[in-house]
Amino acid sequence: MSAEIRWGVVGPGRIAEKVVEDFAVVEGARAVAVASRSQARADDFADRHGIDRAYGSYAEIMADQEVDVLYVATPHPQHSAIALAGLRAGKALLVEKAFTATTPGAIEVVDLARETGVFVMEAMWTRFQPAVVAMRELIEDGAIGEIRSVQADLGVAREYDPADRLFDLALGGGALLDLGVYVVSFAQMLLGTPQRVVAAGSRFPSGVDAEAALLLDYGDGRSATLTTSLRNALPGQARVFGTAGWIDVLPRFHHPGTIVLHRAGAEPETITRRPTGAGYAHELAEVTACVRAGRPESAVMPLADTLAVQALLGEAAEQLGVRHAEDPDGMSSAGP
Ligand SMILES: NC(=O)c1ccc[n+]([C@@H]2O[C@H](COP(=O)([O-])OP(=O)(O)OC[C@H]3O[C@@H](n4cnc5c(N)ncnc54)[C@H](OP(=O)(O)O)[C@@H]3O)[C@@H](O)[C@H]2O)c1
Repeated sequence: MSAEIRWGVVGPGRIAEKVVEDFAVVEGARAVAVASRSQARADDFADRHGIDRAYGSYAEIMADQEVDVLYVATPHPQHSAIALAGLRAGKALLVEKAFTATTPGAIEVVDLARETGVFVMEAMWTRFQPAVVAMRELIEDGAIGEIRSVQADLGVAREYDPADRLFDLALGGGALLDLGVYVVSFAQMLLGTPQRVVAAGSRFPSGVDAEAALLLDYGDGRSATLTTSLRNALPGQARVFGTAGWIDVLPRFHHPGTIVLHRAGAEPETITRRPTGAGYAHELAEVTACVRAGRPESAVMPLADTLAVQALLGEAAEQLGVRHAEDPDGMSSAGP
C-alpha cells in the first residue's frame, strides 16, 4: 500500500460532489479515480475535482490496482451489488447511508466483509462530528447519568416528483432510508438496539414513505421517539435525556456545531465544536486511518450497528407497507 491512501469515487452524483471536496483537508488521503455509468460524466467530474483517472463503468475502477478504497455514492439499491464487487476486488469501502435498501442486502455485504477481512464502513458522518464526539464523552463521564430516552427529528419539505430518486421506490426512495436512517442511527448509538419498533406514517402515490413517527421500545422503560418526513420541514433537533440531566443537540443534529448540556440543578453549558471542511472530512479520516492500520471495521461505526439500524428501518418500512428491493444489476445498471 502506498504512503497515501488512494480513493476512488463510484457514482458521481450530488453527494459525491460535496464529499470529494473534503479530501483537501484529510491528511494522507487523495481521490485518484472516479467511475460513472457514463464516460462523459466521469470525465467531467474528474476535470472539475482534479482527479487523475475517469472510468465509464464501475467494473473498470474495481480493476484499478492503484485504488485502495472506494466511496460508494449511488442510490441505496445499488450499494449492495457494488460493495460485493468491491470486496471481491479487495477494495476497502465507505458506503453511503442508508447502507443498503434491505436487511438481506446488508447482511450479504457484512458477511463477505467478515469473510474476506476487508474494511467496510457505512458513511454515517454524524458519528464523527466533533460535537457528537464531545457529547459521547460527556455521557461516558456520567454528565447526565444513565440515558433513558432520545428524541430526534429530521425532515425536509420536498415537492412530490416521481422522477426524483427520493420518491422512486425502485431507487430506494422515501423518508426512512434517506433521513430516517439518521434519527434511528443516533438513537441506536446512544441506547443500543431496541426490542421492537412501532411505526406510524403515510406514503406517497409512488409507494415510498412520505413521513414516519417511530417508537423504539427497549422493553425496560427506555425508549426513543423519532420523526422523519419528506412532506414537511422539521428542525433537525435531538435531545438525549438521562437520570441526571439532558443534552440538546442543536439543529441540525446530524452534523451539529453546538450541544447544550443541562446538568440537573445547574446552569446550561453551551459547547461548540465546529466540523472540519463540510463535515465529511471526519469519516474520510476514520476510514483512511483504519485502512492504514489494517483494521477490518471502525469502532465508532461498527458493522453490527449498521446491521441493527438497517433491520429497524426495514421493520418500520414493512409496517408502513413499503417494500424495498436491491438492484442485482447495481454494478452495471444502464445509465441515462
Ligand atoms: N451523507 C450525506 O450527507 C448524504 C447526502 C445526500 C445523499 N446521501 C446518500 O448518497 C447516496 C446518493 O445520493 P445522491 O443524492 O448523491 O444521489 P444522486 O444525485 O442521484 O447521485 C447518485 C449517482 O449514482 C449513480 N447511479 C448508479 N446507478 C444509478 C441508478 N440506477 N439510478 C440513478 N443513479 C445511479 C449516478 O451516477 P452515474 O450514473 O454517473 O454513475 C448518480 O449520479 C444515497 O445513498 C444517499 O442516501 C448522503
